Amino acid sequence: MKISEYFPSEVFKDRTVFVTGGGSGINLGIAKSYAAVGAKVAICGRTEERLDQAKGELEALGVKIHAVVADVRDYEALQDACDEIHVALGPISDLVCGAAGNFLCPANEMSANAFRTVVDIDLIGTFNATRAAFEQLKETHGCVLMVSAGQAYMPYSHQAHAGAAKAGIENLAKNLALEWGQYGIRVNTVVPGPIEGTEGVKRLTDEKQKHMLLQSIPLKRLGLPEEIGQVAVFLSSPMAAYITGSQIVCDGGMNLSGSALFNMAVNQA
Ligand code: HXC
Repeated sequence: MKISEYFPSEVFKDRTVFVTGGGSGINLGIAKSYAAVGAKVAICGRTEERLDQAKGELEALGVKIHAVVADVRDYEALQDACDEIHVALGPISDLVCGAAGNFLCPANEMSANAFRTVVDIDLIGTFNATRAAFEQLKETHGCVLMVSAGQAYMPYSHQAHAGAAKAGIENLAKNLALEWGQYGIRVNTVVPGPIEGTEGVKRLTDEKQKHMLLQSIPLKRLGLPEEIGQVAVFLSSPMAAYITGSQIVCDGGMNLSGSALFNMAVNQA
């Protein structure tokens, strides 16, 4: 069954969704889910070529799309992007903070700049996006979704940088939910497990590691980008009107098994 069959078209037709890092992977999957229910969608990313390709795929779904080159580490660029989106598509009603960077690296071999780079993209980039979009979200009584990770609450080998950044995101989401509830803005996080075909899975696993990872997932398969998109659309919908400061885990149950198999695979590599 398609996601559009769950939501009447009038629910999302006047909504403008902004997805940071929307040019690929989970974030593009999220952008496609919003487009499939009729929302206008804006995406940003660092690579024009990747954005153009994603824009074409999103336009094929029949909604208005705006793509803007912006690095989430650059606050001014994000502020300009938000202004541009307002003009092109109307005020932002839904913000998805998805831009992220990651690689496997033991903490004792990681440079200070490498650690800072991931915190800058994931955590500071998430704050930058929420801050830049705040006035528009206040106007629309909008909804923010931050893309978190299991690393936020459980240690994974060679993931000290990503874990610290994502734990920060979980805390930031709760603080913003607390402070911005009075403006009608809801803020939640989604915790994806490993998602098929994404840069994250490519970077964090080879074939042997992927096999071990599958053993630790109770549902015995990787997730799909649109399965994270469905969570995002649900949280934006009136069905989630009283949900804020929450975390939805969408990982096939992987967190129940802990990170031991992943750690073994990484340490044997
Ligand atoms: C060790 C590394 C490294 C690696 C980069 N660095 N890759 N260190 N192992 N594999 C170091 C560099 O040497 C440098 O430090 C510093 O990190 C910055 O690197 P740059 O290449 O200059 O940074 P930049 O061009 O900004 O690229 C950012 C990046 C890159 C994160 C390093 O990998 C990137 O652009 N990634 C975007 C796509 C991505 O990662 N997608 C996957 C997201 S998956 P020095 O000291 O030499 O200057 C994901 C899933 C989440 O987020 C699940 C877990 C949380």
